[in-house]
Amino acid sequence: MSNDTNKNKGLGTDAPSGFGSSSRRAFLSRLGSVGLLATTAPLARAVPAATPDPASNPSTPTPPGTGLPVTLRINGTEHKLQLDPRTTLLDCLRENIGLTGTKKGCDHGQCGACTVHINGRRVNSCLSFAVMHEGDEITTIEGLGQPGNLHPMQAAFVACDGYQCGYCTSGQIMSAAALIKEPCGPHDSDVKESMSGNICRCGAYSNIVAAIQSVRQKKLSAS
Ligand code: FES
Ligand code: FES
Repeated sequence: MSNDTNKNKGLGTDAPSGFGSSSRRAFLSRLGSVGLLATTAPLARAVPAATPDPASNPSTPTPPGTGLPVTLRINGTEHKLQLDPRTTLLDCLRENIGLTGTKKGCDHGQCGACTVHINGRRVNSCLSFAVMHEGDEITTIEGLGQPGNLHPMQAAFVACDGYQCGYCTSGQIMSAAALIKEPCGPHDSDVKESMSGNICRCGAYSNIVAAIQSVRQKKLSAS
C-alpha cells in the first residue's frame, strides 16, 4: 500500500506545482510541447518563404487582366490565355493548362523529358516561350494517344517494357514518335544517335530502342 502510494507519488498523476514537484505526466507533457515548438517554429517561419512570389515566378498563372493575350492550339483544342511573356511552353502546359504528362526534368534543354511536338516536329518545351506558338499545332503526350486508343509508339513502349520509373517516358515517346517520320538509318546505333537528347536515368535504353525498332519494322512491312 505504502509502495503504491510512493509509486503514485513518484510517477505522479496530475498534482502540478513547481518543476521539482511536478508530475511525470506534466513533465513529459511540457517536454512534448517544447519538442513540438522546436519542430514547428522553423516550419512556421519557412512557410511564407516557400510561397512563390508571382512577380518573380513566371510559371505562376498570370492574374486575370494581366499578361499578353495569346491563343494556343493544344491537342486540337484552342486555349485563350493571358501569359507572362517569360512563361516557357513547358510551364504553360503544366501550370496554366494542367497537362502534366509533359515532364520537367532539367529545365535546361538537357534531358528531353519535356519533349512535345510543334507542327509535328519534336521540341524541348522548356527552351521555348509559350507566346511564340500562336498559330502552331502543339501536341503533348495526352494528345498522342489515350488508354484504349494508344499511338503505336505508346503501345510498343508498353509491349517492350521501355520504361522503369516512367519519368522520362512521355518525352521518350514524343521523341520516338517524331523520329519515325525523320531520316534515320536502320540500325540500333542510328536510333540511339537520334534519341541521344532523351536521357533515361533508369537506363531503360535497350528496351526503348527495341520499342522504336518494332514500330519502324511494322511501318516498313506495311509499306
Ligand atoms: S526539362 Fe526540358 S530538356 Fe530537360
Ligand atoms: S524510366 Fe526512369 S528515367 Fe527513364
